[in-house]
Amino acid sequence: MTLLYTSDPTRGAIWRAIFAAEAPDIPFVTAQDGGPPADTRYLAAWAPTPALIAQLPALEVVFSIGAGIDQMDPAALPPHVRLVRMIEPGITQGMVEYGVMATLMLHRDMIHYRAAQGERRWAPRPSLPAASRRVGVLGLGELGRALLAALRPFGFALSGWSRSPRAIEGVDTHAGDAALPSFLAACDILICLLPLTEDTRGILDRRNLSCLPPGAAVVNVGRGGHLVADDLIALLDEAHLSAAVLDVTDPEPLPADHPLFAHPRVLVTPHIASATRPESGARAVIANIRRHLAGEEMTGIVARTRGY
Ligand code: GLV
Repeated sequence: MTLLYTSDPTRGAIWRAIFAAEAPDIPFVTAQDGGPPADTRYLAAWAPTPALIAQLPALEVVFSIGAGIDQMDPAALPPHVRLVRMIEPGITQGMVEYGVMATLMLHRDMIHYRAAQGERRWAPRPSLPAASRRVGVLGLGELGRALLAALRPFGFALSGWSRSPRAIEGVDTHAGDAALPSFLAACDILICLLPLTEDTRGILDRRNLSCLPPGAAVVNVGRGGHLVADDLIALLDEAHLSAAVLDVTDPEPLPADHPLFAHPRVLVTPHIASATRPESGARAVIANIRRHLAGEEMTGIVARTRGY
């Protein structure tokens, strides 16, 4: 019942130590240890190739090393193999930190002050109370819900949108395509934390971003494919939108001459908002293997037809 790990070797060394100490009964093997053992039942990987999958006849579960699974080719996995996304406290904490930081930066006009400092201008602006701003989160999964909970104590008005209805205390929730324009119309700061699927690709386009109120700002911590960059730039230049914070882009890395890098009202970070922490990531996979061995439901199972 071996677990094969094929991601970053430095992190892999931490996974190995956690497995050795906390799950010595589950053999742990990495891609560097030689050819995959024939009894590999579990695979922890970012984007396994069809060639690797073909070498694993006993494979039952693929654990994504990340929260997203859009990098995987589901067609490469035999239908009986379960696909599981990463849910672990470290990745949630990182995303909460970044989301709160981006929200506060936008709320307190930091993009304006960064530009003013660059021009050596002393340019104060009136600051608005948090309660007068509505922060809306697209995507109410593990990460979206944790971010909304962390934003609550600041006093922002909070909204959330998801494909299927969700009730969250203190959050005005909306669901489904028909509700998207009215949800967007109220968001002063919009944060995208959706999974990337065929339904959500390009969701941050001119049509939807135009629904935001004038002066709104956008944060993308989902995937670069959610955003139509030309549409965002046009809406910033037309002054409909005030600023954007983008941790994900399409492509990645963003080419040095890309207009998003040069735009004075865009802050780009290189996909660092959050990543699986090896210690807690390994523990989350051990807990799921234990559930699987006990015949229980694992947490984070991906519905392949839905794409998340
Ligand atoms: C990172 O982007 C992840 O999916 O964990």
